[in-house]
Amino acid sequence: MCGIVGYIGENQAVPVLLNGLSKLEYRGYDSAGISVYHDGIHTIKVKGKLAGLREKVEKDDKKSSHIGIGHTRWATHGVPNEINSHPHNSQNGKISVVHNGIIENYLELKNMLIEKGYTFKSETDTEVVAQLFEDLYDGDMVSTTRKLLEKIRGAYALGIMCTDHPDILVAVRKDCPLLIGLGKGENYIASDIPALLEYTRDYYLLETNEIAVLKNDGVKLYDINGKEIKKEVYHVTWDIAAAEKGGYDYFMMKEIMEQPEALKKTIQPRVTESGIHLEDVSLTEEEIKNCGRIHIVACGSAMHAGVVGRYVIEETCRIPVEVDIASEFRYRNPILAKNDLCIIISQSGETADTLAALREAKKQGVKVLAIVNVVGSSIARESDDVIYTWAGPEIAVATTKGYTTQVSVLYLIALYFARVRGTMTEEAYTAAVKELHDLPEKTAEVLKVDARMAEIAKKYANCENAFIIGRGLDYAVAMESSLKLKEISYIHSEAYAAGELKHGTISLIEDGTLVVAIATQESLLEKTVSNVKEVKARGAKVLAIATEDCTAIEDVADEVVYLPKVNHLFTASYDVLPMQLFAYYIAVERGCDVDKPRNLAKSVTVE
Ligand code: F6R
Repeated sequence: MCGIVGYIGENQAVPVLLNGLSKLEYRGYDSAGISVYHDGIHTIKVKGKLAGLREKVEKDDKKSSHIGIGHTRWATHGVPNEINSHPHNSQNGKISVVHNGIIENYLELKNMLIEKGYTFKSETDTEVVAQLFEDLYDGDMVSTTRKLLEKIRGAYALGIMCTDHPDILVAVRKDCPLLIGLGKGENYIASDIPALLEYTRDYYLLETNEIAVLKNDGVKLYDINGKEIKKEVYHVTWDIAAAEKGGYDYFMMKEIMEQPEALKKTIQPRVTESGIHLEDVSLTEEEIKNCGRIHIVACGSAMHAGVVGRYVIEETCRIPVEVDIASEFRYRNPILAKNDLCIIISQSGETADTLAALREAKKQGVKVLAIVNVVGSSIARESDDVIYTWAGPEIAVATTKGYTTQVSVLYLIALYFARVRGTMTEEAYTAAVKELHDLPEKTAEVLKVDARMAEIAKKYANCENAFIIGRGLDYAVAMESSLKLKEISYIHSEAYAAGELKHGTISLIEDGTLVVAIATQESLLEKTVSNVKEVKARGAKVLAIATEDCTAIEDVADEVVYLPKVNHLFTASYDVLPMQLFAYYIAVERGCDVDKPRNLAKSVTVE
């Protein structure tokens, strides 16, 4: 959700900015732009993807500079055109700003500035920041930034340049990620690690309203009162190759194929002969035994992982579980009891609504356990406990390994809690732990369905509507499968609890409508088969995803993709794999930009 970069140092700024932006394009691709200092602020920007900016920069003869800021935009305020693109400059060209986030009181500030005689070119909230900075400017970058922070409300990560100080870059954040990369004779700002990796592995994580002043030879950090502070230097441990495509056409396919490894890193260190060990969890046995209710809160696919978690935790631990969409949870005055637990799920750890839901739960005195992929992200830092999914960087906008590792952590939690609460027999527990331990290897087996899914996708690539149905855990997977299909292929798709279709939606089924039936729950098979017959009778084409013991589906479906039989609780981890591949190949067939679907961005840091 908008990516920002900044460079100051002995080398040329432009190549570093463009390269950094290329690593952040997953955060938004409505427009891109840079500002450099070249006898004053010089700004180059374009509507659309970064390739356009590269071309424009190439032809520009004022690009030579040792300082600059850059931006790749996911539009919030104002349509995605060149005028609304970042960076935004103040009226007299003294200040240039890049921004990720939303300034909530920008209209109020804009009116105040208009009254003072400022004129605006764009519809954006960011231009207000640039003009306000100029209005407040007192000659000192830190004290002006402090004054700015007193005036603006909302979420922001800002990179600021000023013509009076061509040797200084300022960065500040609140509720949007921002890293300060530490080099030798050069320093950087970036929204995410991949933009830094080619230059440095050492970085600072700024906390809310901490101000960073970057120069060639060092970085100084200040708190909101202007007092200089010292911070811990973080070090990136993963390899640069993890953020490259590695021979695949798209990051999404690379990330699908990385799932066995990601699951292995997430599960296996936490499983031994004697059972599940969650050293990252500080909840006491007493707290787990007395847990009244679990509230799982997340957005999108992470919320779908939560729906899987609800089925598994309720069955194994006998604790009631509610799953909430974070943007709803935070505003519905949720009823939480002191002995409840809130599980927050987020790949990026920066999703604005999820972060707000976390804060709401904490405000009500409820313990928060987070499942997060990005180490040191806001959600990870603000939760009581964090269980990391060791999926590595996920670049494709549509999550795959992020989702399946989240599901695997929910299995870990379910089994860990079940043992403490004594709600599973030792035999059932041991079998489930073994099943979980073997999940990465079996995932690799199931992914061999790749070529078959490519073939099946060819048949359905031209369909315009799809319904994905299932019961119980299969319904949870249907939700995620449907989202994958619609977000990257733009086929209208809906997930339905198989038994619910006939209560209205079945009227949409006509000759040739694609229905994917997920049928892996033996105990529910007869019912699902009946639902498939209902849609077949109305002309649907049915693709079934079933486990080897659910062969009855064969008589009613047009084709069946079989998966190995596993303990019924774990099917959710496998059914989604052919559906990820199906969505991927359909999107490729339809000529879609798989990694950067239209209108979307990864890491949604606005409400
Ligand atoms: C869909 C997808 C999104 C995210 C959602 C939450 O493929 O990736 O639905 O799951 O935006 O993001 P995180 O997990 O970063 O909080």
